[in-house]
Amino acid sequence: MFTEIITSKFKTIPTPFYYYDVEVLKQTLQKVKEESDKYGFNVHYALKANANNKILNIVKSFGFGADCVSGNEIRKAVECEFTPNHIVFAGVGKSDAEINYALDNNIFCFNCESLQEMEVINELALAKNKTAHIALRINPNVNANTHKYITTGLEENKFGINLWELDAVIAALKTLNNLKLIGLHFHIGSQITDLSSFKTLCLKVNEVQQWFVGYKITIENINVGGGLGVNYHEPDTHLIADFAAYFKLFNEFLELLPNQKVHFELGRSISAQCGTLISRVLYIKKGVNTNFAILDAGMTELMRPALYQAYHKIENISKSTKYEVRSTDSSSIVNHNSSLEKYDVVGPICESSDCFGKAVELPETLRGDIIALRTAGSYGEVMSSAYNLRDRVKAFYSDEI
Ligand code: LLP
Repeated sequence: MFTEIITSKFKTIPTPFYYYDVEVLKQTLQKVKEESDKYGFNVHYALKANANNKILNIVKSFGFGADCVSGNEIRKAVECEFTPNHIVFAGVGKSDAEINYALDNNIFCFNCESLQEMEVINELALAKNKTAHIALRINPNVNANTHKYITTGLEENKFGINLWELDAVIAALKTLNNLKLIGLHFHIGSQITDLSSFKTLCLKVNEVQQWFVGYKITIENINVGGGLGVNYHEPDTHLIADFAAYFKLFNEFLELLPNQKVHFELGRSISAQCGTLISRVLYIKKGVNTNFAILDAGMTELMRPALYQAYHKIENISKSTKYEVRSTDSSSIVNHNSSLEKYDVVGPICESSDCFGKAVELPETLRGDIIALRTAGSYGEVMSSAYNLRDRVKAFYSDEI
């Protein structure tokens, strides 16, 4: 994947930085498009995964919509010229200002997470003499079998309207005259690799649909959220998630009513594999039982390992023959068949949680070596911070360097 980035130019860029392979992103989007088009499904890209202008412009060029969770994400989507009619807005805590902004921009749909939120949107829409299109975000109580911090569809989670609240919500809708119910929304979690969780979701959606049919309420749109996982362990052999199996499953198990449209909100599976955090080794330090490879990138640039104990593949790209074979000067090819050593790969931040991996096997690693943290295009740069007054991490794109 990095064969083209080990150039003299690349070597002179100050680290740390995010590197995005535009070709990988485009190939992924092409696959999403092909597979979703087979069934006429509508895909909205979840900006929360990566909201860089360049990424968004490429996503938009494939005709996808936008899934936003804040007023600023809506603003970004509008600035990047996503059609407002293809923007959905979710989130348990939408502020009045954010709702007003979304109303002013005539977005496609508010995914409502509580009765009280519906009342507030109704009131704000009334003040503008508008009708807000809403979907009810229903908490289906389906286990996504993923990390507990990114499970969202269980009753114990803060998200969505519980099934036992539906009677009250439907009764209230009759009086909320500035809301138009256009859909049902579900999202059970993220980094879901066991597709059977999505099958369980489909069966639950069918059940909920029957409940609405019983009330003779017509639902035009079913939004099943996002959540498709990616392969963090073997990015090169699984660069593109299995979108064919994913969309096929929904087509097979969702029982749709006539003219119903299906919507997806995919984030990670679209942008994760195109992004890599590139860093340099500052120091190698001998510990009691281990060596520490201290990088110039830390949890401030990539927070996932510290927050979720998430795995990101770590590669010493200065030492990998894989990357050197492309050197134009064949005499410079060095054989690095040296035996592997174990390193705790850590960042410079003043916290012990600032660790990217323990006992990571790498070729002998030295100060100045370039280290790649793979599969970092989603929930990487967007979650970076200025903790310790760090500089904001920069981004470079394969077609620009
Ligand atoms: N729709 C809703 C309502 C969501 O809450 C999310 C993600 C998505 C769509 C997109 O899900 P995806 O396709 O990316 O799985 N920071 C965490 C992930 C948090 C996901 C939050 N919601 C991480 O780094 O793993």
